[in-house]
Amino acid sequence: MAPALDRGRPAPAGTSLVYRSARGYELVMRILYGRHYGARLRAVADQVPPGRSVLELCPGPGALYERHLHDRVSVYTGADVNPGFVARLRRLGAEAIELDLTGPEPLPVADVVIMQASLYHFLPGAEIVLERMLAAARERVIIAEPIRNLSSSRVPSLAALGRRGTDPGGAAGHEQRFDEAALDRLMAPYAAATVTAFTIPGGREKVFVLDPRRARRSRTADDP
Ligand SMILES: C[S@@+](CC[C@H](N)C(=O)[O-])C[C@H]1O[C@@H](n2cnc3c(N)ncnc32)[C@H](O)[C@@H]1O
Repeated sequence: MAPALDRGRPAPAGTSLVYRSARGYELVMRILYGRHYGARLRAVADQVPPGRSVLELCPGPGALYERHLHDRVSVYTGADVNPGFVARLRRLGAEAIELDLTGPEPLPVADVVIMQASLYHFLPGAEIVLERMLAAARERVIIAEPIRNLSSSRVPSLAALGRRGTDPGGAAGHEQRFDEAALDRLMAPYAAATVTAFTIPGGREKVFVLDPRRARRSRTADDP
């Protein structure tokens, strides 16, 4: 059974119900992704070479660590603004830090830096987070982002849940989302650094794997 989220410090005021309990969060994700829920985690885990150190930004309650990464990476660190999610990750045995990515704190360096289903929280200006991920990664940056999500569901109750359900607390609402064209536009300047890009089974998320060394090289080559 998943440990209760609430044993850490309480979530900040304004945190959506979905983010208040690990079980509630997973339930919503299962409704959203249906039979493809397991595949979305596997698609990202498959891109992590074994034995590497991993920094996962916005890991939520830690499903990727718990299901796939705990026994195949050298060090795993999850960084999330939600203290309950951080506490849960620590109980699972992971390193975890409470970090608001809209703040100025530098990111810990790791071989692989991951963010799944969270880039929309940083719209507008998601490229700033992407640049920070590239600066923190030695080998790989993995972005997996919904391109069709709950808030665009044709089922009105799911759409409402998707719009209101994912506020981490504190900040303004997060109504803006990516569609595939918008995500492709964000990633286009990183074409030279892109190792692979694909949609997960069901087509709800698109995964981009970037090589930060290639990004740095192409930038140096562009310098006059
Ligand atoms: C939709 S959940 C995704 C969780 C997990 N990656 C997954 O795919 O199931 C978004 C996560 O981003 C976190 N988050 C939102 N805004 C943040 C911020 N400014 N800094 C750090 N984490 C943030 C939330 O607390 C939540 O855990």
